[in-house]
Amino acid sequence: MPSAGMPKSSVILECMDLGFHGDLEVGSGLVDLAVNVRRAPMPPWLAEPVAASLADLAAYPDSAPATAAVAARHARPTAEVLLTAGAAQGFVLLAQALRGARRAVVVHPQFTEPEAALRNAGHEVTRVLLPAATGYALDPALVPGDADLVFVGNPTNPTSVLHPVEAVAALARPGRVLVVDEAFADTTGEAASLAERRDLPGLVVVRSLTKTWGLAGLRIGYLLGPADLLARLAAVQPLWAVSTPALAAAAACASPAAVAAEREIAAGLAADRDHLVAALRGLPGVTVEGRPASSFVLIRLDGDGERVRLALRDLGYAVRRGDTFPGLGAGWLRIAVRDTATTDGFVPALRKTMEA
Ligand SMILES: Cc1ncc(COP(=O)(O)O)c(C=O)c1O
Repeated sequence: MPSAGMPKSSVILECMDLGFHGDLEVGSGLVDLAVNVRRAPMPPWLAEPVAASLADLAAYPDSAPATAAVAARHARPTAEVLLTAGAAQGFVLLAQALRGARRAVVVHPQFTEPEAALRNAGHEVTRVLLPAATGYALDPALVPGDADLVFVGNPTNPTSVLHPVEAVAALARPGRVLVVDEAFADTTGEAASLAERRDLPGLVVVRSLTKTWGLAGLRIGYLLGPADLLARLAAVQPLWAVSTPALAAAAACASPAAVAAEREIAAGLAADRDHLVAALRGLPGVTVEGRPASSFVLIRLDGDGERVRLALRDLGYAVRRGDTFPGLGAGWLRIAVRDTATTDGFVPALRKTMEA
C-alpha cells in the first residue's frame, strides 16, 4: 500500500492507486478531513439492536428480516434486495457474476473500487472521464453505445456532484447493466436517488450504511435491482457474508424513523457544507469544483497541491489527495464536511499553506 506522502508516477503504482483510500491519510494527532464517514455516536435505536444481536452469535445469520425491512423501505419485493458486506462487496459480486460483459465502462472521476473489482475479475475497463470544465456533469452521450456494463456514482465521490435523475436514467437500456453507486445518497436527502425505480432495464443501485451512520467497520450495504440479476449476484456471494450485527443495523436503519433521522442529518450537513464552501471560496488560489452536494468538497489549487497537502499535515490536518482518482491530479484535494468549528480551524490553515 502506498503511504500518504508517497510520490506516484509508474504504471504499477497507478494500479495500486485504485486501492488507495482516505483512511491511509489519517494519522495520530491529525484532524481527519480525509474520510467521509460521519463521526457521531450511534443513536439508541441503532446501538441497542446491534448490541442485542451479540447474544445471537452462536446462530448463523438470518438475512430474511433485514431483507424484508430494506425492501419495505424502498417499496420493492424482497427478491429485489441483496444485502452485502458493504457496498464494496457489491462491486465485487457484480464484477464476478458479469464476467461475460463485452464492454465495461466506469464513469470517472469516481470511487476507484468498482474499477478495481472489474480489473480483478478480468474485465478490460473503458474509462469515461467527465471534464472539470463542465463541472463533471454527466453527459450520457459520452458513454459508448456498446457498453453493456456501466458504473456511475451519484452523488459522486470525489467530486460531490449530484447528477440529475434524467441524466443517470438515460444510461439505462435493454442489454446493459447500469450500476449506480448511491453510497452517499442519504447525505443528499435522496435528492436524485433511483432506489425505487423499477422501470429502468438492468438498473442496479448500490447502497451503503457506512457513511451517515458511521458504520464503516460493520460492513453493511445492499444492492437493489431486478430479481433475476440479483439471483446471479447472490450465487457468487460467500455464504453468510453479512454478519448478524450488520443485519441488525440494516433492519434498524430501514425503519421510517431512521429515514426521517437521515433527512435531518442531511439538512444539518447541507448547512455545514455551505459554511465550508463559502469559506473556501474566499481563499485566493482555491477553486471549489462543481456544485458540492454530499459530505465532502473537491477543490482545485493553483500551484503545488502536493506541497499544500503535506504542509496541511504539518499543521495538523489530513485531507484526501486527488491524484489517485482517474481524471484528477495532485492539484485536487477532497475535504470532508465537518462541523463549523472544525472548518473555522481548517480554512485559515489552508490559507496559510497557500500563502507560504
Ligand atoms: C462512492 C463510494 N461507494 C462505496 C464505498 C464503499 O462503501 P462501503 O463501506 O459500504 O463498502 C465508498 C467508500 O468510501 C464510496 O466512497
